[in-house]
Amino acid sequence: MNKVGIVGVGNMGESVLKALLQKGVQKDSLCFVEAKKDRALHIAKTYGVKDVKKVSELAKRSDLIVVAVKPQDARKILPDTASSMDGSKVLISIMAGVTMANILALAGKPVKVVRMMPNIAVKVGQGVIGVAAGADVSVEDVAKIKTLFSSAGLTVDVGEELMDAVTSLGASSPAFFLLFLEAMIDAGVKIGIPRDKAKAISLQVIKGTVAMLEEENVHPALMREMITSPGGTTISGLAALEDKAFRGSVIEAIEKAAQRAKELSL
Ligand SMILES: NC(=O)c1ccc[n+]([C@@H]2O[C@H](COP(=O)([O-])OP(=O)(O)OC[C@H]3O[C@@H](n4cnc5c(N)ncnc54)[C@H](OP(=O)(O)O)[C@@H]3O)[C@@H](O)[C@H]2O)c1
Repeated sequence: MNKVGIVGVGNMGESVLKALLQKGVQKDSLCFVEAKKDRALHIAKTYGVKDVKKVSELAKRSDLIVVAVKPQDARKILPDTASSMDGSKVLISIMAGVTMANILALAGKPVKVVRMMPNIAVKVGQGVIGVAAGADVSVEDVAKIKTLFSSAGLTVDVGEELMDAVTSLGASSPAFFLLFLEAMIDAGVKIGIPRDKAKAISLQVIKGTVAMLEEENVHPALMREMITSPGGTTISGLAALEDKAFRGSVIEAIEKAAQRAKELSL
């Protein structure tokens, strides 16, 4: 499982390519196809990886085929990809919402499939990637694939039935969190802190909170209690958030995004 081909090197395909190179996969074990000529030239020049032009050629040369085109391009890619695959090769789809059943239907023959649902932070090696493997992919192959992708972020095994939930909690929720962050910065400005300083403080609050949760292995609720003294400032702010149903709103947002992921899945 040393040779990897990537179909579509847009945002996500490039992030996967970078992660594989970081993990020590050799340049000559990697190849890609890309529809946009300029993009293909740029990727080949930047990373020194071969552009093989044809999907069928890529599938022949690779043990692992990563499909990173938009979901609507799946029907163009999958039949050609599958035609050059044998039982030793594994197709990894990072296409949001394209189910294993549809991948197999479009492939037109039985192929080994692993679905991965990454979020945007794979760009900086701090992503979350939900992983759902088909029943015919061996435990060893799944472990190797997860190791290969580990430079992109945390891989989490989930059954395929949870892929829409991972799409919401892992891939959409950075946007919810960013809305909270923006609100924090605006709040800082409202109470008189210059915007650049409000941004610096807010970002450091988040980084420090996450670092402490991880280093001290403490539950979020316990850490919150540590800074919530009787009659103090924090409880006043928390009460205002509870009054506006903050938790319920967050839960509803994540539930709604998961429902939408289900509606959009092909
Ligand atoms: N972006 C995210 O945060 C995110 C998160 C999770 C999952 N995903 C999934 O990742 C996949 C890629 O997303 P993306 O944002 O990286 O999209 P993208 O930037 O549009 O990249 C896809 C690339 O594949 C190329 N392509 C299309 N058809 C092709 C073909 N037949 N042969 C070779 N190359 C082809 C596209 O070229 P053209 O534009 O010319 O078609 C484009 O350059 C999507 O399925 C998406 O659902 C994305």
